[in-house]
Amino acid sequence: MGFCVALAVVFFFSLLAGAGEFRPGEVWCDLDGRPINAHAGGVIFEGGRYYWHGQPMTALPAGSKYPPSAGNLTEVGVNCYSSTNLYDWRYEGVALAVSENPADDLYKGLRIERPKVLRCPRTGKYVMWFHYVRSGKTHAESYEAAVCVADRVTGPFRLVKIFRPNGGQMVRDCTLFQDDDGAAYFFYASENNKTLHVVRLTDDYLDASDRWERILVGDLREAPAVFKYRSRYYMITSGCTGWRHNPASYAVADHPLGPWKKVADPCVGPNATNTFDTQGTFVLPVHGRPGAFIFMADRWNTTNMAGSAHIWLPIQLNQDSSIELRWTNRWDLSVFK
Ligand code: GAL
Repeated sequence: MGFCVALAVVFFFSLLAGAGEFRPGEVWCDLDGRPINAHAGGVIFEGGRYYWHGQPMTALPAGSKYPPSAGNLTEVGVNCYSSTNLYDWRYEGVALAVSENPADDLYKGLRIERPKVLRCPRTGKYVMWFHYVRSGKTHAESYEAAVCVADRVTGPFRLVKIFRPNGGQMVRDCTLFQDDDGAAYFFYASENNKTLHVVRLTDDYLDASDRWERILVGDLREAPAVFKYRSRYYMITSGCTGWRHNPASYAVADHPLGPWKKVADPCVGPNATNTFDTQGTFVLPVHGRPGAFIFMADRWNTTNMAGSAHIWLPIQLNQDSSIELRWTNRWDLSVFK
């Protein structure tokens, strides 16, 4: 009897220990037991909690008029989850809802790709930017940025504008980055994916300023994810092969507007090919731990986009300021010394 109790105690504590870890590639459920559905997203830290915004990928009904690769046509909007420890996520609901009215810009069936949220220090508002494709339009007809604003990080966000910054250049895969001085930057694939652009946002974060640059010119990179460590800016990108995974690459700069210098593929070790079968979306700085950064990526499942896995891996920062990503089946925040 005593032995059974001891076994039960060991089992209970091993369950507890197992709970606080990342398991890349496994189904990751929220606190209600449903798979987290927030793809190509980003995370911000506000008031002691992390908030994760991302695209819900839809399981398209049989006989749907959309091809399987169009699992990102949203009937929902942008999902939001929150967490205090980065392992356990509570569903906060839809932060940006689509409209039921065909006349609206956010009419359901549009594509909301790679949504990212920042808090604007000047206005205290939460601002979301994403790659917008109007309902019923193809990518080629509608490569724009959408800007939304909310009073609370969980929303509801409302649309402010849809536009193409920098003299009407196209906007595709994108991200936001906020610098220590409060300046924010929008990075996006432009010029038919050949060249990335970066533009500094206006002080209210609701528009693009006239300060912008072409970066990694002609390199055909997308899915940019930017972070800063010790005055140096890092950007991890993917190649442009749609939902098919491809090798990552990273670049460094002394300023968000560049010049950016291509360095190498950060993925090393076993199974490093094709970014461990993922495409990056964001680099998450762990709050209160300088030098602790998590690479967030999606493992696209083109036959079931809703079943695409979230893959999070720790970024290893080396003495020579290079970075490395290694596959690990299970890990926790203690890897960051
Ligand atoms: C990927 C891109 C995704 C989405 C997809 C559509 O290359 O990173 O955000 O646009 O193509 O085919």
